[in-house]
Amino acid sequence: MLLSLVHLLLVGAAAPAWAATLAVDFGADWTKASIVGPKMEILLNTDSKRKFQSVVGWKATDRLFGSDAYSVAARFPADTYMSLKYLLGAQFDSKRADYYKTISSAKTVATSRGTVGLVRSDGTQWSTEELIAMQFAYIKQVADSAGGDPVRDVVVTVPPFYSQFERQAISDAIEIAGLRPLGLINDGAAIAVNYAMTRSFPTPEHHIIYDAGASSTSATLVTFTTTTSNTTKADTTTIEVKGIGYDELLGGTELDRRLRDILASSFDAKHSSTGDIRKDPKAMSKLWKEAGRVKAVLSVNNEARSSIESLAWDIDFKALVTRAEFEETCADLAPRFAQPIKDALAQSKLSLNDISSVILAGGASRTPMVQNAVIDIVSESKIARNVNADEAAAVGTALYGATLSRHFRTKDIRLQDISAHDVQVVYTAEGKNGPRTIHNVLFPKGGKTGSKKTLSLKRKEDFSIALEYKGDTPTPAQIVEATFGGVTESIANLTEANAIDPVVKVTLSLSDDAFVSVDTAVAYGEIKDDTLTGMLKGLFAGSSSTAPEVGTEETSTRASSSETDSASSASGSASPTDSASPSASATPTVEVKVKPKDTYPLKITLLHAALPPLTSAEKSDSKTRLRSVDTEEANKRLNAEAHNVLEGYIYRLRDLLDGAPDSPFFEFSTETEREKLKTTLEEVSAWMHEVGDSASTAELTKKKKNLESIEEPIQTRNREYHAAPPAIRDLQQALLAGRTFVVSARENRTQEESLGFEPKYTVEEIDGVDRKINETADWLEERVLKQNKRQRNQDPVLYSKDVEIRGKALQAQTMRLIKRKWYPKLKKTATSATATDSSSTSTATESKSTGHATDEL
Ligand SMILES: *[C@@H]1O[C@H](CO)[C@@H](O)[C@H](O)[C@H]1NC(C)=O
Ligand SMILES: *[C@@H]1O[C@H](CO)[C@@H](O)[C@H](O)[C@H]1NC(C)=O
Ligand SMILES: *[C@@H]1O[C@H](CO)[C@@H](O)[C@H](O)[C@H]1NC(C)=O
Ligand SMILES: *[C@@H]1O[C@H](CO)[C@@H](O)[C@H](O)[C@H]1NC(C)=O
Repeated sequence: MLLSLVHLLLVGAAAPAWAATLAVDFGADWTKASIVGPKMEILLNTDSKRKFQSVVGWKATDRLFGSDAYSVAARFPADTYMSLKYLLGAQFDSKRADYYKTISSAKTVATSRGTVGLVRSDGTQWSTEELIAMQFAYIKQVADSAGGDPVRDVVVTVPPFYSQFERQAISDAIEIAGLRPLGLINDGAAIAVNYAMTRSFPTPEHHIIYDAGASSTSATLVTFTTTTSNTTKADTTTIEVKGIGYDELLGGTELDRRLRDILASSFDAKHSSTGDIRKDPKAMSKLWKEAGRVKAVLSVNNEARSSIESLAWDIDFKALVTRAEFEETCADLAPRFAQPIKDALAQSKLSLNDISSVILAGGASRTPMVQNAVIDIVSESKIARNVNADEAAAVGTALYGATLSRHFRTKDIRLQDISAHDVQVVYTAEGKNGPRTIHNVLFPKGGKTGSKKTLSLKRKEDFSIALEYKGDTPTPAQIVEATFGGVTESIANLTEANAIDPVVKVTLSLSDDAFVSVDTAVAYGEIKDDTLTGMLKGLFAGSSSTAPEVGTEETSTRASSSETDSASSASGSASPTDSASPSASATPTVEVKVKPKDTYPLKITLLHAALPPLTSAEKSDSKTRLRSVDTEEANKRLNAEAHNVLEGYIYRLRDLLDGAPDSPFFEFSTETEREKLKTTLEEVSAWMHEVGDSASTAELTKKKKNLESIEEPIQTRNREYHAAPPAIRDLQQALLAGRTFVVSARENRTQEESLGFEPKYTVEEIDGVDRKINETADWLEERVLKQNKRQRNQDPVLYSKDVEIRGKALQAQTMRLIKRKWYPKLKKTATSATATDSSSTSTATESKSTGHATDEL
């Protein structure tokens, strides 16, 4: 299905260096992807499904993706990587990494950064980012082969509660995949964008997007408002996120895990003496798949029969699971499924009565138990099942991507998201009773993303601040520590210049994608202008110069773009330094009093102690690793292909040699050739048999060339035997036509001259064609005579290709003249001589004739 793209038009007809953007809804179980563009299409997997299983794995040495990898998961549990989303940006000893270990048999290790690495059974280790990058690269490949422009940029969904670490990790994975992260969008916001695409909200409406995915569940409370511009009559829909609630480890996977435990316990109950099924990775992997199947059956039936042949120790497993039993086991989860809605409401300070609908999305929202948990707190009438639970996020992301890429004009939808966590700045300050640690929430939970803050601190020496998440989650708490250098000297200089209360101003931002960063740091102090104008100005300047920006309390944080603007324009006061430079020779003699420098940029040093992001070198190493896997696989494919081709060729040659003596092959070959081919063929067959499997592609190709060099001439004779006669006939036709032309052209010329016209052709031109005809005819006659003396098993002396070349040359020369446009025009009687020998003045004639005879080529 193509999405209806009434809102999506390519801006500007020609967008030359346009690389396509990919929108990816990356899930723990399934990944949905869409190409952003006029042909916005959901990508199909190899089974033509509209989603990809988020799995990468190896079957022996073959790397597999999606359902191919999933289908062999039970055979290669240690080499199949599913649910990697849990490990994104997770520390090795984190809650999420621990949870992952309960659902996967993959072997995990701590990386040098303290994140989770995965070890294949052959010992090779991959980072989570690399394995996810492989999946992104695979989707890129699918997108690229779906036609259209190659994909370069990616917009990807993330759960709203993702911390900087998880956001960084997925961005890094995208980069390692050879793509460019264009932006991140929270799941709920993406679904809201999709919802707003086809709707209008003349009066503001509040909706809750309830997204129960595989790995987590979240509720996003959004307010939709559509306003119409008085002047342009265009609609703008604003989506404001007002509240977020979530449960990080609650989703479809947890339900699968509980079901798998029911199945495992059921097996244990019957076969307790045989061993611990939970220690058998293959059996657990089979049960994991079975749990998923049983869950789907229980969504529509009250009971599900489970049956797995030879689950472990050659025992066939049979069980009956009822929905009641399943729900009983998950009873504790019901309130957890409802909680995010309550939390989102609480944060938004709205009540359920204000909510127009609760929009269900995500795979787990189909589970009756989950729906019931929601219905328990929200009346059934408010539940909206009118979005495509699977695709809403991918489609919304694609539209968002279209907005970001700016290559398309979209329906005007504006998104304002909020932060799910408190971000605080931590530093030490001099207090009355000695130094104390200050915690200052700069970007509060529920505050708008895409904002900047400026921190003014009274300092005399270099110092550092830390940016941290407040509270128990996320972990680690510390995002980054920034140290500011050059403070001592800058403040000293400002003080020297009589600056009033010099301070250090640090600008920090929370991006639209919820990344926190330290943007700029300067030492600043207002310098009193003691010139007469300055003094006069100062009298009526009001608060700006009199009221100090920083009070006795050391911190003053203000969210304001104007604050930032004034800071950055102040740093632009480097210009006085410029004019004070020696090049001032050009300045006029009148002395200009230079305003002293009031802003000094400081050196910012960042330290990521808790969980360092990947360095560019590390990312580039990973890219190289991935590329070498790709190259290796491509080489393997080429080798297999060369192998098959040579094998097929051997069979074909054998058939030819074994053919009937009156077959064309025998007819066009000599006894010697057949003997030689036979001997070589036997050699190559034996070689294939012995070392063919390990032979390099080059060797295989070389062997094939050996054989070809013997067979090729024979085939050529056969081909020429059939191709030469029609070619000769064509050439003879061309010669005939050429001769007719020459005769006619000469006749016409004579006539034209006698009528006093400029003749259409010069004598040279006609003679030229005539000569060409004579040459060609002579060549053909000579070759045909020789060829007729040859045997069929001798190489020809006349090749159809040469005949064709001659024919085409003759044709071109003749056609050029035939196509010439000509209108009768009286010859100018030359003043000097009347009787002109046409051949001697032909050049002059030709140049004169351009007015009426033009070659049309
Ligand atoms: C647009 O029109 C409405 C209704 O006439 C008016 O209240 C509003 O102020 C106008 N807005 C602008 C920006 O002119
Ligand atoms: C401070 O002033 C001194 C002396 O004028 C100068 O050499 C130095 O570069 C100044 N420092 C900065 C950071 O501009
Ligand atoms: C010669 O003149 C006739 C009659 O105008 C014309 O049909 C024919 O194409 C001319 N021949 C050539 C070779 O131009
Ligand atoms: C081409 O051959 C014919 C017949 O052999 C001859 O009359 C004519 O002069 C030749 N033309 C040229 C240009 O050599």
